[in-house]
Amino acid sequence: MTSVVDNPFREGLARDQAPSPCCFVLFGATGDLCARKLLPALYQLLKQGLTPQEFYVLGVARREKTDEQWRAEMREAVAEHSRDGQLDEEVWGQFAERLGYHTGNFDDDAAYARLAARLEQLDQDYGTAGNRLFYLAVGPDYFTAIPTALAKQGLFDEPGESWVRVVVEKPFGTDLASAQALSGHLRALLHERQIYRIDHYLGKETVQNILTLRFGNAIFEPLWNRRYIESVQITVAETVGMEGRRGPFYEEAGAIRDMVQNHMMQLLSLVAMEPPAAWGAESIRAEKAKVLQALQPWTPEQVAQQVVRAQYRAGFQAAEAALGYREEEGVDPGSVTETYVAMRLGLETWRWSGVPFYLRTGKRLPKRVTEIAVSFRQPPLALFRQPEDQATNTLVLRIQPDEGVSLSFLCKVPGMRMLRRQVKMDFNYGSSFGTASPEAYERLVLDAMMGDSTLFTREDEVEHAWRFVSSILDGWQAAGATQLPQYDAGTWGPEEADGLLLDNDSWRRL
Ligand code: BG6
Repeated sequence: MTSVVDNPFREGLARDQAPSPCCFVLFGATGDLCARKLLPALYQLLKQGLTPQEFYVLGVARREKTDEQWRAEMREAVAEHSRDGQLDEEVWGQFAERLGYHTGNFDDDAAYARLAARLEQLDQDYGTAGNRLFYLAVGPDYFTAIPTALAKQGLFDEPGESWVRVVVEKPFGTDLASAQALSGHLRALLHERQIYRIDHYLGKETVQNILTLRFGNAIFEPLWNRRYIESVQITVAETVGMEGRRGPFYEEAGAIRDMVQNHMMQLLSLVAMEPPAAWGAESIRAEKAKVLQALQPWTPEQVAQQVVRAQYRAGFQAAEAALGYREEEGVDPGSVTETYVAMRLGLETWRWSGVPFYLRTGKRLPKRVTEIAVSFRQPPLALFRQPEDQATNTLVLRIQPDEGVSLSFLCKVPGMRMLRRQVKMDFNYGSSFGTASPEAYERLVLDAMMGDSTLFTREDEVEHAWRFVSSILDGWQAAGATQLPQYDAGTWGPEEADGLLLDNDSWRRL
């Protein structure tokens, strides 16, 4: 293991911010998220010497299992999902020594009493100093029961210098009322500073780079407003469908709860926020919250005019036949759950009034791509008159998979004639830095251990986003559709989405 001192991976982390000793208590230890994301992330952090020396990971789940059995399963999971694509035996050995499993039914008080005793023992054996990070990688039904039971055992107390934090996975509520109820419940047991609501998009390098690009460079700021920006388009396109297992979950969520309320609202807030007063969790989140607050709830009429939802039917994905949504396992054959949402929204703020923001997301689209495209206004005079001269300057922030930033502009074609063409200046992460970016979960898990909540969503952000999204859900309910517009799997969504575009705008071809 790399020594914590002079560790290149620690570059940029303040020395006084080294993670303190801690026990990572992972509820949902037999679940998908644990195997695919969380354990590989923790392994990677340990490999880079970023975990504290006094560190332990205790998995908690209902299934009876011994420590050895869980370790063996996690070994396979890490080998399969680690971002290096292989397991370093020496590092694994060090990691495995710090892994344990606790069997417990989430409704059983006795299991929590045993957990409390085990945590105390771990503090003594591993020097974890009573610092605990409880990670709820469980279904939302347990987001209230588990904290209640932990509090009852006194496990949220912070005696002496020790700390307790709770990471809550998504979905945080299913509408405004349930999100408020959940927040209310957690706030009765914990301080807001102890609650870490995760949105893994915030852990992506390229998403964090939005702030650097905007506030670390002087050239963009003067242009970043309604005077120079014509429109903003945010796309989160996915090729996957229900992946054979997600039907039942998705039936309840749909694209708006699964992607818009959280990931897309976060992207929107980062693009549209004002500069923060200081570089810190509270200042940054306060500015993001103001953007979401500016999204006024819509009436059912506005929902009908400004949102399009649709569902994929059978089609072809990368030349292979793909099922329609209603034929997927665990999906009601008469389902009206949307797998695609597009909308046009406006932010009534000083900076953005009158600028349309177009958002679209869908499953079973032709390409996996997440990007934010900022289109600038045309020059004031049309000196060049050919139609190709009308192309606008567009700054594209490519979030994934081909991470980078590009700016398109008009250029003279070499030669005697005065011909012009759009060209691109392109920055590409891979070729510029030559190193792989950390996984979103690595960053977020480390931040939670260090007590930095900048990249976690605050209560007010979640509520403002829900207030807006709930108005869309209400509008849809009032409309009472029994059939949604359809699009063939492997295509760019329904043609109804074109009706959202203003003037000369068009959906970007990706
Ligand atoms: C999750 C959604 O939050 O994000 C999934 O539940 C979606 O439906 C996933 O596929 C997308 O994440 P990423 O990191 O692959 O863009």
